[in-house]
Amino acid sequence: MGRLKDKVAIITGGANGIGKATAIRFAQEGANIAVWDVQEEKGAEVIKLLIAIGVKAIFYKVNTADASMVQEAVAAVMQDFGKIDVLINNAGILRDATLLKMTEQQFDTVLDVNLKGVFNCTKAVAPFMIERGYGRIVQASSVVALYGNFGQTNYVASKAGIIGMTKVWSRELGRKGITVNAVAPGFIATEMIGSIPENIMKAMKEKVPANRLGTAEEVANVYLFLASDEAAFVNGAVISVDGGAVV
Ligand SMILES: NC(=O)c1ccc[n+]([C@@H]2O[C@H](COP(=O)([O-])OP(=O)(O)OC[C@H]3O[C@@H](n4cnc5c(N)ncnc54)[C@H](O)[C@@H]3O)[C@@H](O)[C@H]2O)c1
Repeated sequence: MGRLKDKVAIITGGANGIGKATAIRFAQEGANIAVWDVQEEKGAEVIKLLIAIGVKAIFYKVNTADASMVQEAVAAVMQDFGKIDVLINNAGILRDATLLKMTEQQFDTVLDVNLKGVFNCTKAVAPFMIERGYGRIVQASSVVALYGNFGQTNYVASKAGIIGMTKVWSRELGRKGITVNAVAPGFIATEMIGSIPENIMKAMKEKVPANRLGTAEEVANVYLFLASDEAAFVNGAVISVDGGAVV
């Protein structure tokens, strides 16, 4: 308890899955939370849980792919909370298809949310962190960025791009007291992978030595470490949370 006491954290995609588990975990450690998501009702439910834990928590309806919406949301968070210590760039989507079937729209939509969204949020938040000489920025990449994956040209491009941006920002912002890291989850049991057929799911589990999927909480714990003061000398890292999956 208290590893993020009185810190202010923005969690994108915080209404569901890994983002929701992260919001709860961070609140348990004393952080005040701004949940950003496109899903208003689910976001409101998360806020109730966070307030019950005893922290300040506010939902903001934000499409992270929309730069002006992100700018407005950052201004609102500054007004409501007075500072931003932590940015968890967690929002992400899938629009899978094999190369020859993938439409330009599928490609652009995934890149807009997963890659440009992370750029938009980080660019908007960074000036406030630089001003205070402190910040923790963590983004969701994926193991598929390291190994590739069938049917995921757009998603893999976005998640590999996130690793590249993480490396650049760790250099640019590291001098200003800010660390920038990425987490590369493996197969995690959330709604995102809910549409995967049973036989493929079985094959996915078999790639993990423990023969199981990971949980959202297991990813949230790694976000927590990277967001905490304990990780002050971890910068530009990509940490796999995949149970040792051999992909
Ligand atoms: N689940 C996995 O196996 C897995 C594996 C590797 C990486 N990841 C990554 O982890 C992150 C979280 O995944 P999850 O499994 O919790 O997914 P999820 O689908 O359960 O939750 C994603 C959340 O992001 C929100 N979101 C989507 N588009 C948005 C936008 N434009 N603006 C704001 N919010 C938006 C959704 O509404 C949802 O609440 C994603 O970036 C995902 O790519 C997940």
